[in-house]
Parts: sequence; C-alpha cells; structure tokens
Amino acid sequence: DFGLMTYDPAFTNTASCRSAITYIDGDKGVLEYRGYPIEQLAEKSTYLEVAYLLMFGELPTTAQLQDWEQGILKHTLLHENIKHLMRGFRYDAHPMGVFLSTVGALSTFYPDAKNVSDANVRLEHIQKLIAKSPTIAAYAYRHSKGLFYVYPDNNLNFAGNFLNMLFKMTEAKFEVNPILERALDILFILHADHEQNCGTNAMRAIGSSEVDPYSALAGAAAALYGPLHGGANEAVLTMLRHIGSKANVPDFIAKVKKGEGRLMGFGHRVYKSYDPRARIIKKAAYDVFEVTGTNPLLDLALELEKIALEDEYFVKRKLYPNVDFYSGLIYQALGFSPEMFTVLFAIPRTAGWVAQWDELHRDPDQKIARPRQIYTGYRTRDYIPMDKR
Ligand code: SDX
Repeated sequence: DFGLMTYDPAFTNTASCRSAITYIDGDKGVLEYRGYPIEQLAEKSTYLEVAYLLMFGELPTTAQLQDWEQGILKHTLLHENIKHLMRGFRYDAHPMGVFLSTVGALSTFYPDAKNVSDANVRLEHIQKLIAKSPTIAAYAYRHSKGLFYVYPDNNLNFAGNFLNMLFKMTEAKFEVNPILERALDILFILHADHEQNCGTNAMRAIGSSEVDPYSALAGAAAALYGPLHGGANEAVLTMLRHIGSKANVPDFIAKVKKGEGRLMGFGHRVYKSYDPRARIIKKAAYDVFEVTGTNPLLDLALELEKIALEDEYFVKRKLYPNVDFYSGLIYQALGFSPEMFTVLFAIPRTAGWVAQWDELHRDPDQKIARPRQIYTGYRTRDYIPMDKR
C-alpha cells in the first residue's frame, strides 16, 4: 500500500471501462454474450450470428443476418499488394507475426478508417476486419508451406471458406466433413469475446487514442501472441508432447509444484472454477475424434486434468482447465500445425475486439486511456559532475 493509492500488480480490482458486451462470473464459471449463456450460443448459433450479437446487442432477424453476412462476404478479398508484402517474410515466419504485421499494414490501405467518430465508417471497417482476418491467416499459412494462395470463395460459409483457403490443393474445393466444419465454428463462437482480457484491453486502450481499427487490432493481436494469453494453446501441445506419456505425468506435476514450469492451459485470472468454454471444447473434441480418429494426446490431457484437479497445489490456487487446454487437440485433428493455433484464436477474437472498439467510440464519456502509476523512484536531486560520481 503506497499511501493514497494501492498497488495491484495485475490491476485485478481496477475496472478499465464500462461494457455491456460480455459478462463473466469467475466463481460460478458463467460466461454470457449480451446475456445469452455461452452454452446455448455454442449449441444453437453460428460465429457470424454471434459476431452480430456482440456488435449490436441483439440476435439478428433473418434479414438482418443476411445483410450482415453480405456486408462481410463482400470484403473477404485482400489487396494484391498484400501478397507482395507477405512474400517479404521468411518462409518460417510465425503466422501470428505475419498476421499482426499484415493487419497493421492494412491501415495504410484504408486511410478513411481514421474517421472513427462516424458509425458507418466504423461499421464498414469492422466488417472488413471480420472478413479479412481468415484470409490473412490462410495466406500466412500457405506462405509458410510455400503454396499458392487460394482466393476466398464466398459461396462457402465462414468456417468452410477458411478451411478451403487453407487446404485446397486442386481445382476442386476442399471437401471437409460437416462435423469438423461445425466444430471449428463452435470454437470460433467460444473464442469470440471475453470481457477485458489482455488483448481486448489493448484494443480499447490503443483505440481510445482514436487511431484506426487496423492499427488498434494489430496491438491487440500482439498481446494475444504472448504464451500467457492466446499463445497458451500452442504451448499446451508443446507441453503434452514433452510429457510424452501418462507415466511421466506425476514427474511433470511434481516439477510444476516446485515452480519449475507451468501447467499450460490451466489457471485463469478471472475463472476460479472450470472455464465453461473448456467444458464445451472437451465435449467437441470427442465429436471431432469420432471423425478423425482419436489423438493419444487427449488421453494424456485427461490424465493431467484428473491428477491436477485432485492435487492440493492446484485446488488451493483454484487452477482449472481454461479455454486453451483442449482447443489445440481439436485444431491438430483438423490438420492445423501448432504455430497456427494462436492465429486460430485471433480470427474469432476479431469479432470481440471490433465490437469492444465500437462500444468504446459509442461511449460519450470515453477518454483516452491514461493509467497512473505508483512512483517508487528517487524524488528531486541535484546533478552529479562526472568527477564526483
Ligand atoms: C487466456 O483474461 C482472459 O480472459 C484470457 C482468455 C481470453 O479468452 O482472452 O481467457 C484467454 O489467456 C487463457 C489463459 C491462457 N494461459 C495459460 O493457460 C498459461 C498458464 N496459465 C497461467 O500462466 C496463469 O494461470 C494465468 C496467466 C492464466 C493467470 O495468472 P494469474 O491470474 O496472474 O495468476 P498468478 O500467475 O498470480 O498465479 C497464482 C498462483 C501462483 O502460485 P503462487 O505464487 O501463489 O505460489 O497460481 C500459480 C502461480 O504460480 N499458477 C500456476 C498456473 N497458473 C497460476 N501454477 C502452475 N500452472 C499454472 N498454469
């Protein structure tokens, strides 16, 4: 406690903004988008319908959804110059680094996006960002594999179009099992928004300076890239591969308890109970493995979860599986390489980022983000000449 101000290293108890978009009860494991429970949305909705809900606050009518989807589908293409930009990256550039750089570069293609006070201008670029994020991700993936780029096919749904741009190898469109396509759409719904997490906080803080949404979203994606945030899904797969077999789980858990590493995909700043998204993803994993054949790492993940949830170290610290613990297993089964996993988080999170950014600009009381600090350095003192130091 530093006198008048108290220092909270994670600003856990400091509200950064007012928002009506996403509600979380961390103790009860509740997550609602605009009041709708995530369980119902995952079962009954689609990613683009959820993106509409996050943005406008209500579920769309048929006509509203059609208009919204059309407004997005007409923006799926990228300027041809973006391909040249991407060619500048090394073949092994991490797709997340390509993604955030390319989104930032898009700000130079749309100078009018700076008119953030105009709701229609905001809407146009919001739809562009939702539409182009999968195209950027697919181009980044194809670049990393040295493959030709596949243009978006607007006759396909959002998840199908993305998978086609990623995996199409012949003239024929990429055929994907509808169960797998639906599993990806459910993952997109679950990752769409999550209140004021690190990446969304970055989106709002950067956006509060009235910069364009492309530049703000590049900053949000940079925050998500971190292994403590969206990078955790890739880190879970690395961790599972490192553990290798159930026989090694007790040793691994012992090391974690000694502070020699973390159980990636476990723990959460807000959820002090099971992350409701992890529960849904765990169930979706079984549906996916029915189609693709099981993944030996799933048994390992289940064993890790079982042992951890019975261990005092994790119970005392209220550490449960979070959204990242099982998602990578599904992405792997869908054919994605681990370095694509965080980009797979960034694509759907674009809907939440832009909805939160729009909300920020609709708040008449909103000011530029300017947190204060607790100053712990020297107070005023005189300059010391070199020969006296
Ligand atoms: C996401 O905020 C969001 O909403 C994020 C997100 C979203 O949708 O945007 O939900 C997405 O980022 C999910 C989290 C993904 N990250 C991981 O899975 C990485 C592993 N988890 C952690 O590093 C950690 O749990 C955090 C970062 C998620 C939360 O950390 P906190 O709240 O800052 O907690 P902490 O680091 O202060 O830990 C409290 C205690 C510590 O032990 P002690 O110092 O008290 O002895 O719990 C321990 C930590 O060492 N701990 C863990 C642990 N997480 C916390 N120990 C082992 N393994 C872990 N995973």
